[in-house]
Amino acid sequence: MNTLEAIAGRRSIRKFKDTTVSDEMIETILKAAVQAPSGKNCQPWRFVVVKEDHRAEMVRVMREGIDRLAEMDIDLGSSRWTANVMEQAPVTIFVFNAHGKHTPNTPHWEDETDVVDVQSIGAAIQNMLLAALDLGLGSLWICDVFYAYDGLCAWLGQEHQMIAAVSFGYPDEQPGLRPRKPLSEVTTWL
Ligand SMILES: Cc1cc2nc3c(=O)[nH]c(=O)nc-3n(C[C@H](O)[C@H](O)[C@H](O)COP(=O)(O)O)c2cc1C
Repeated sequence: MNTLEAIAGRRSIRKFKDTTVSDEMIETILKAAVQAPSGKNCQPWRFVVVKEDHRAEMVRVMREGIDRLAEMDIDLGSSRWTANVMEQAPVTIFVFNAHGKHTPNTPHWEDETDVVDVQSIGAAIQNMLLAALDLGLGSLWICDVFYAYDGLCAWLGQEHQMIAAVSFGYPDEQPGLRPRKPLSEVTTWL
């Protein structure tokens, strides 16, 4: 699979087989992540790997956070659905910004260096998705973890700023290409 084929073939996967992903595969994905470029090569990413033995607890914490927001009548978006996906996925990797400041309830954008760090971390996450594809694994990039931001950070023992989670597993679905806006709509050529 060449790079362009991998980019074109990647899909968000929301149904996973109940098959364990080996530690070697997880390491390969993490090695791909840390090969991403980063602003001034500061490598702000940090990772916490949650495997099957801690999955139920992770989902419990996620749902607790969502339930708390539900009590406040806050729109829950797709968060319950995402929690169900995380419940199936053998691996979820949380991704943190070591330089971002953690504040209660909301991720806090301290200054413009946060924006640089978040771009670097986005590149690392995309590398993870493409590495997973190369290994025959599916992946889902998840920001619905923000619905349980404090609870998940506390449970993971992390004071860094949480950026996202990514669930991985052997895909149990083959979704087609999701629609994309035409280039003409999103690009200006001077
Ligand atoms: C920053 C980011 C956050 C996302 N968060 C979620 C999420 O919380 N739950 C979910 O089901 N999908 C999530 N997705 C996946 C998107 O819905 C998906 O990438 C988009 O619909 C396009 O589909 P594709 O990835 O198959 O091309 C997220 C994607 C990105 C890049």
